[in-house]
Amino acid sequence: MSNNILGLLAQPLKIGGVTLRNRVFLAPMSGVTDQPFRQRAYAHGAGLVVSEMVASGELAKGRAESARRIRRPSIDVHMVQIAGREARWMAEAARIAADEGADVVDINMGCPAKKVTGGYSGSALMREPDHALSLIEAVVKAVNVPVTVKMRLGWDDDCLNAPDIARRAEAAGVAMITVHGRTRCQFYTGKADWPAILRVKQAVSIPVVANGDCNGLAEANVMLAQSGADAVMIGRAHYGAPWTAGVLARSAAGMQTTGLPDSTDMAAYVSAHYEDMLSHYGVGQGVRHARKHLGWYLDRHAGAAPALRQSIMTETEPANVLRLLKIAFGEPRRQELAA
Ligand SMILES: Cc1cc2nc3c(=O)[nH]c(=O)nc-3n(C[C@H](O)[C@H](O)[C@H](O)COP(=O)(O)O)c2cc1C
Repeated sequence: MSNNILGLLAQPLKIGGVTLRNRVFLAPMSGVTDQPFRQRAYAHGAGLVVSEMVASGELAKGRAESARRIRRPSIDVHMVQIAGREARWMAEAARIAADEGADVVDINMGCPAKKVTGGYSGSALMREPDHALSLIEAVVKAVNVPVTVKMRLGWDDDCLNAPDIARRAEAAGVAMITVHGRTRCQFYTGKADWPAILRVKQAVSIPVVANGDCNGLAEANVMLAQSGADAVMIGRAHYGAPWTAGVLARSAAGMQTTGLPDSTDMAAYVSAHYEDMLSHYGVGQGVRHARKHLGWYLDRHAGAAPALRQSIMTETEPANVLRLLKIAFGEPRRQELAA
């Protein structure tokens, strides 16, 4: 039975007129899943990658950072996530994203951050289902591409209304629902409740994606069995490992998996990612932005001495960073990459 369940992840999934090549997705993560990161995750075989959330008002006003967030990587399916609480900005942002080549527009109803909920968007919308629906309707009406929604189980344990909102979203024309199995008030504490996602699955006939605390094959198996979901979405397990979703998708298809192509070594891999980030952000911003990724790579794959790690994390000259990365990663460590 478990193999049959996992085999599902290797199957394509249709959302509206868009076909996703498998059912293991990279979660949207602000400050992490930028264009260079998504490009890598998709090249490794993720079935879907999602942009960082874009504030709809900022995008509509033409802010440079928002425009950068919606830039299309070279991938088959470009999904842009928008956040906000005003229907006119949400509709306008969706139109801009679609004009820029988005194949799918996702609505953020899951972000717990105060700056998002304080503006009553993100997961705060789950406290106001009627208002949330008005936003969904405005977005669906604004674009011809499929619209999807990412939500939590509800605001808190007394308000677990994801099934109801999902049902209404489906009636409004939404093509897929992703559920992070926590409430807003849990933030990221405790453990994601995968069985609770089943109630959403039972409420709708569109695809449901389960999200929260899935790190690999064994967990994906349990998550699928408990949630009845059609696909899984993985976020933080990608830190320092953009290949995570792709490896899982290949395992689900019964393929031999290595984390990366055999000829690739970590120093070259991380250096290429670093250089992509510098081109994407420009050197000044890129050097700073890249640090969190370098830290994750180092912690996960290099075990660099603290002093060397500190030098890499504070160095401002890219050529020096590249030289230090070679030292930190040393010889190719292919055997570690699939970990
Ligand atoms: C740093 C960070 C940024 C995030 N940004 C977003 C976002 O922009 N949009 C969104 O819908 N969820 C966002 N999330 C939530 C993730 O998409 C995902 O739902 C959550 O991390 C649980 O999945 P995981 O346990 O696999 O990480 C973010 C999470 C993290 C840790």
